[in-house]
This record gives sequence, structure tokens and C-alpha cells, in this order.
Amino acid sequence: MPDETQKQGAPPNDPALMKSGSGLKLEPDLAEVQETSEVQNLEVSSATPVKEVEPAKGLIGTLKARWEAHVNANKQKQAAKKMSVSDAAGKVVGVKVTTDEKIDPKEREEILRAEKLFNEGLASIRDFIAPSSMDIQFNHITLSGVYVKTIYVFSYPRYLETNWLSPLINFDATMDIVQYVYPIDSAAIMKVLRRKVAQMQSSIRMDSEKGNVRDPGIETALEDAEQLRTELQRGQEKFFQFGMYITLYAKSQKDLSKAVKHVESLLGGKLVMTKSTELQTEQAFTSTLPIALDELEVHRNMNTSPLSSTFPFTSSTLTSNKGILYGINRHNDSLIIFDRFSLENANSVVFAKSGAGKSYSVKLEILRSLMVGTDVIIVDPENEYETLAHSVGGSYLNVSLTSDRRINPFDLPKPLHGDDVQPGDILRSNIINLQGLLRIMLGGLNPTEEALIDKALNDAYSVKGITMDMVDPGGIEPPTMEDLESVLSSMAGAELLVQRLQKFTSGTFGGLFNKPTNVDLSSGLMVFCIRDLEDDLRPIAMYIILNYIWTRVRSELKKRILVIDEAWTLIQHEDSAKFLHGLVKRARKYYLGVTTITQDVEDFVKSSYGKPIITNSSMQLLLKQSPSAIEPLSKIFNLTEGEKYLLLNSGIGQGLFFAGLQHVAIQTIASFTEDRIVTTNPEEVLNQQK
Ligand SMILES: Nc1ncnc2c1ncn2[C@@H]1O[C@H](COP(=O)(O)OP(=O)(O)OP(=O)(O)O)[C@@H](O)[C@H]1O
Ligand SMILES: [Mg+2]
Repeated sequence: MPDETQKQGAPPNDPALMKSGSGLKLEPDLAEVQETSEVQNLEVSSATPVKEVEPAKGLIGTLKARWEAHVNANKQKQAAKKMSVSDAAGKVVGVKVTTDEKIDPKEREEILRAEKLFNEGLASIRDFIAPSSMDIQFNHITLSGVYVKTIYVFSYPRYLETNWLSPLINFDATMDIVQYVYPIDSAAIMKVLRRKVAQMQSSIRMDSEKGNVRDPGIETALEDAEQLRTELQRGQEKFFQFGMYITLYAKSQKDLSKAVKHVESLLGGKLVMTKSTELQTEQAFTSTLPIALDELEVHRNMNTSPLSSTFPFTSSTLTSNKGILYGINRHNDSLIIFDRFSLENANSVVFAKSGAGKSYSVKLEILRSLMVGTDVIIVDPENEYETLAHSVGGSYLNVSLTSDRRINPFDLPKPLHGDDVQPGDILRSNIINLQGLLRIMLGGLNPTEEALIDKALNDAYSVKGITMDMVDPGGIEPPTMEDLESVLSSMAGAELLVQRLQKFTSGTFGGLFNKPTNVDLSSGLMVFCIRDLEDDLRPIAMYIILNYIWTRVRSELKKRILVIDEAWTLIQHEDSAKFLHGLVKRARKYYLGVTTITQDVEDFVKSSYGKPIITNSSMQLLLKQSPSAIEPLSKIFNLTEGEKYLLLNSGIGQGLFFAGLQHVAIQTIASFTEDRIVTTNPEEVLNQQK
């Protein structure tokens, strides 16, 4: 360690400082020495000429001749040097002669000593990181005010699950974990095991001869030993000794013991037993420094499989090479970059209470997905995606009685290219959808009415020339609600149905659903706004829109995301809930990911269609929850106590992100520009409008 004069003040190696420093008078000379010695070394190595030797007998002969030539050359040089620098003998300056002479051992020693002295005077990186003091107590160490304690593992369970270290790795405390793995010669272990097996077998035999009840402990140990023997013999396993020590650092003694307790219980819960190093604190600390010096030597036997489970690189990160940024991992500040289409299905659900940032996070996802070429379709019940649609040049359709945009629910999809479609398939599935729609429109149907509607729907299509024996009826103009009405009015017993349907053809709600479609789903972002729809019409409109989207999705295979905000409005009605459920279940085959956003967790979870939607969504985002919603949620998502606590105490945009089986705590973040596009904060929106 350098002296204090060096530690303070300007950076080390500063020539000005070195010259002024009182204890460093040697400097100039030594600097020179260093320089020259370098030159010297170089010179020596390069100036050793290998004399041409006449070809000798064999390889040995050649080498011998070369060596002799080399020795002779050196001798000559030594003699010449002795004559030329006799006056400067012993003085370091004498070495300055940059001839190709070799220095004698005494000089060399002197130079090396001086060089060492010089180097010791330089501050190195170690001096910067070294603590100024180390107070070693019997149960902890204080390193310049930081409290340090090491614990070691003394026992492992019979089975170690994979990833058992991950809670420890993700535990938010400063710590060093050290693992020492010593390979052991299998042959030696085989001998030991052989003896053990013999011992165990004989004690089992003795027990049975004496008529004692069997001891399952010995039997298990015997089985394990036998299995290990076989595997070692076959070379499937190798034998090791394994030591694991954990050093924890904290600002106070109280924090330290809290952290130690936490780690002990974390590991104890997995039956990995630990003890703290008392009276060996210094050795334990040294053992956990990255210098591979095991002074603690607490080792346990382990074969390859359990040893592999100690591999620590499985912390909860969700960073992959492709995908989009979802946010920051609050466990370890890594980025959550993820491609939802890499999961078994690309559906996602977003749950949180009002104002927790659901729409905000989903809008960010939309913006970023658009950048990587994914199409997005949004059902927007609050008119909050308009800015987004305009910013990225998407289409924005206001679906309402006063708008001139129309979607005809009778539209038929084109069969998907390469799909095996039987005649009538497309028509049949659309008629089933229409029945669902009419059930919502007409306020439920009894079995007789259902039969009538079924017939009327078939007839309405056949009037237009679309029949069950066609494979692709896409080219023909489909019927409208009005056509259905006229077919129904010609049918006996359908008078009541006609009356109820008239509301949607010639009545107040007329026009909205009984005209040919005049919207086109061709732009990258498509928003259907249903805010201005009357409440009664909402479920119907949602149904029609979803059906339209579905029809379009099925006709062309493309990477798409469908966002349904405030999905609880759909779940309230059995038919639309059923439709949404079907959509989520089938989306994968059409390269579609459905994002379902809802604040009403309880209703969603209670609904028999809501729950399968959650289970059929591989990606889930849970943001801040209300206490009443946390229980049903924790049942569905198997939340731990810690996760529940996290969700209840989250801030805006904070929560849990689930991708398949991986859970991470997330914080969604937006850039300044993104924030301007996606915010729903009334104050910010007003400012922008100004
Ligand atoms: N990650 C975030 N960073 C900064 N501000 C955020 C973040 N998430 C949300 N906000 C802000 O919080 C407010 C509410 O967000 P958002 O509209 O997404 O809520 P919500 O959960 O969709 O609510 P609701 O269910 O009522 O629609 C907005 O003003 C938004 O700007
Ligand atoms: Mg919202």
C-alpha cells in the first residue's frame, strides 16, 4: 500500500506531483533507469546473433553447435564491456550504454530493485478499491464502515430442483456468492461407495435376520449409492466436492443481520442449510474474494446433476434478442425485451385498476410493435387512441349512428390461402356468428325463434345466390339486415321477430348495421372507436366489429395484434363474451395476438368465458390492483405473498409481467415523444391541444 502522500491530491502518475513530493526524489533517475532497462532488455534479446553453423551430424549436433556459438559470442561481449565501463562500475548510469551488451547479475538485481521501488510508488487500481480499514470481529467484519458477514452452506437436500439459486440471485441485497467445485477422481469414490454399499447391505440383512422392521433410511441410501455407482461406472456422472459461501454487505449491523436472516430463510425453505462463519470471519471473507482462495473449506459431495442445478445464470431476466421493449425489470434494472409471438400463443391480458396505466402500457406496445412491422387493430371505447392513430398515419373509424362508416355483419371471409376448406364451411360459420349477433340484438331467442332465424339466414344468403355447396362465396354481394327482414316477414310465425328486428333496419338504430361495408382494413393501424355509440348498441357493435376484424384476419395471414380495451363491456353479455373467448382461442393459427384490457378483474374472473381467456393468454401484465381484486387474481395467477404485496403497492406503470412461466416486476417507461402520443392525462392533453 502506498504512503499517505500519494493517496491524497492529484491523480497518480502525475509527473508534477511526483517531482514535488518529498519522498520521491529518486524519480528522474529511476525513470531513466526504467527506460534504459527496457531498451536493454530489448537490445539483449534482439542482439543475440545466431552464428551460422556448419551443418553437423543430426539434430542434436546442430543444437549443440548453436549453443556453443551463442556462449562464445556472449563471452566476447562481456570482455569488451569490462574494458569500456570500468569507471562507471556499480553506478546505475553505467547501464545507459545502449550497446548490445549484457548486464551482469549484480546490476540486474539493482535495476530490478529500483524498478520495484518505483512501481510501489505508483498508485494502482487496487489502491482505489481497497478499503482504508478492516476491523475483524468474531462474527462480522467492518470494512471502512460497511458491515460484512459470510455464511456457508453445510447441507443440501436429497433432491435439488433446478433454478433453486434464483431467489437468492434476485434477492435485492449486495452480496458475493462463491462456489468452489473440486473434481474428485471417480475411481477413488467408486472404492468408497463399494464399501458403503457392502456395509448397508449387511446391516439390512442383519436387520432382517433379527426380525427387525426394515429401515427405510438405509434402503434409500443404498438405492442412491447403487444408482450413483452405476452412473459413475458408465461415465454418465462425475463426482465433485462443492463449497458455497455467501458474503453479505450492509450499511448497519441491523441491516446485515436482517439480510443474513432473509438469505438463510430463503435457502432454508429449499432445505439448503446454512451457518454463519463465526470466529473465521476473515478466512470466510477472503474465500469469497475473486482470487480463488478457499480458506473455509466446507465442502459437500455432489455428482454432476445436482451440481448443474447450482448454475447461477438463471436470474429473472426477460431480455431476448428480438422483440420490443416492454419496460425495465425492477428486480435488476435489466431491460424487458420480448417478442410475444415467440410464445405458444401471442395473446395477452392486462389487468389493473383505473388509472394504473393499462392503456398507457398497451399504447407503448402498439407504437413499438408497429415499428417492427406488426399490424395493430384496436377497439377503443373511450376515444383515447385517436392521437395515436393520427400520429402513425393509421385509420380511425368512428362507429356510431351519426357516422357514415358501416360494417355489414353478413360479409363473408375469403378462405385462407392453403387452407383446406370444405364447401359451406365459411357460410356455416358466419351463420352461427350471425345467430349470436341476433341473440344480442333481439334480446335473446327461444328455441322456436332460433330455428326460424336459422332458416331465414340461410334463405337470405341463398336469395343472393350464396349456398352451402360453394367453397368461396367471397365474390358475391352478401345480403344485408334488410334482406333478412324481408325473408323473415314472408315466414309464418316470425311476426314478433320482424317487429324486434325493425328497430335495426328502419327504426331508430336503422342504418348502422344494414348497409354494405364501406371501411377497409388495409392500413397498419386501425382504430374502431365506439365511444359515441348508445349503451344499448355497444355489445352489438362490438360483436360486429370483432366479427369484421376476425373475417379480415382470416382472409390474409399477417402478424397482427388486436387490442380490446375495456373488455369488461364484452364480458357482460354472454354472447359477446363467448365470441371473444373463441377469438382468443383461435387467434394463434391466424398469427394474431389478442390483447384484452380490463379494470374489472372480479367480473372477468367470475365469467365462465373470462377465465379461459386468461389461461389462453401466454403474456400477462398486472399493474396496480385494488385490495378486493387481489384475492381472485392471486388464485388465478398463483401469486406469492411478495407479488401480492408488490401489486398492491405499485405506482403508476409498475406491476408484474408474465411471459409464459417467467415472472418479472416491470416498470413501463416511455420516451418524451412517446409520452406525448400515448398520454391520457387530461392536463397534458389540454396543453398539447393549445
Ligand atoms: N408508465 C407510465 N409513466 C408515466 N405516466 C404514466 C404511465 N402509465 C400511465 N401513466 C399516466 O397515468 C394516467 C393513467 O393511465 P392510463 O390511461 O393508461 O390508465 P388506465 O389504466 O388505462 O385507466 P382506465 O382503466 O381508466 O382506462 C395517464 O395520465 C398516463 O399518462
Ligand atoms: Mg384505459
